[in-house]
Amino acid sequence: MRSVEVAVPGHPYPVLIGAGALARLESFLTGRVLVVADRAVPELPELSGIASPLLKVEGGEAAKTMRGVSRLLAAFEEERLGRDGTVVAVGGGTIGDLAGFAASIWLRGVALVQVPTTLLAMVDSAVGGKTGVNTARAKNAVGSFWQPRVVLADTRYLASLPAEQLAGGQAEVVKYAMALDPGIAGLTDLEEIVERCVRCKAEVVAKDEREEGLREVLNYGHTVGHAIEAASGYSLHHGRAVAAGMRAAVRISASLGLCQPSLVQAQDELLAAHGLPGRLPELTTEQVLAATSADKKSRAGRRRWVLLREMGRAELGFDVPDDIVRRAVTEILSS
Ligand code: GLY
Repeated sequence: MRSVEVAVPGHPYPVLIGAGALARLESFLTGRVLVVADRAVPELPELSGIASPLLKVEGGEAAKTMRGVSRLLAAFEEERLGRDGTVVAVGGGTIGDLAGFAASIWLRGVALVQVPTTLLAMVDSAVGGKTGVNTARAKNAVGSFWQPRVVLADTRYLASLPAEQLAGGQAEVVKYAMALDPGIAGLTDLEEIVERCVRCKAEVVAKDEREEGLREVLNYGHTVGHAIEAASGYSLHHGRAVAAGMRAAVRISASLGLCQPSLVQAQDELLAAHGLPGRLPELTTEQVLAATSADKKSRAGRRRWVLLREMGRAELGFDVPDDIVRRAVTEILSS
């Protein structure tokens, strides 16, 4: 079993990675326990073995709404989930975000165990304490920072993961390679990939839990990515949208002379090796640009871009002229 510590000041926790990580679940449970699981996820014996109510919910981005949160809160009330209780979130990023947010506001916060079942959730969303839901116009606009007690990344879930989900997760893996650790690009073993990405994330989150600066580096590709996702009505997988967003970001980086032009092709090839970004929905440049204005990283009305200097080195806080953004978005929508 691999273990990575997320050393967030005041509430550090482990991420356990490997086939069988779920066997450790019981040792992290307190009080009344409520399991919130994506109904599409196969039930592993360790989960059916714990005697607690199992709430099956619909996964997918469409489930991440305030209405979904209200339903969970009603179930917590019905099940008399007390202050010493534990919410266990079993599923991909959408379930972790939704159940995590509900756990963070129920009785002003109860313990949360994250059991990510997709590659994307294992390498990114289940780690670091971001929880939340979408509004009609912006992704994750309502949310909280609520660190889990433990993350159990049981890699047995990956064996039955649909190819589309696996490809989506690979987009975040490429993100880590481009933004922080180029060595990730050469790895093939999924368990090793999860560990290396979690190490990157743990290091960043430990230094900047609340995204006051450094943590923004994890949003490489997400400005245009989130805009495409929102403009598509969340019909496009998050990972594919982020892959398209990274294609825009590297082009902007090269246009500003921040990185070598050859990095554009290098990143395109890394993404293409996983079939990313694939076919995008029919969107106009104007639709995507309008959606970028809802980006949470805006400060004083200006977007702050995360851009590349070289492979494995992203930097924050760039203000990019509108015509350069427009050109990059037009290019990635048409190629
Ligand atoms: N997914 C980016 C972050 O957790 O900060």
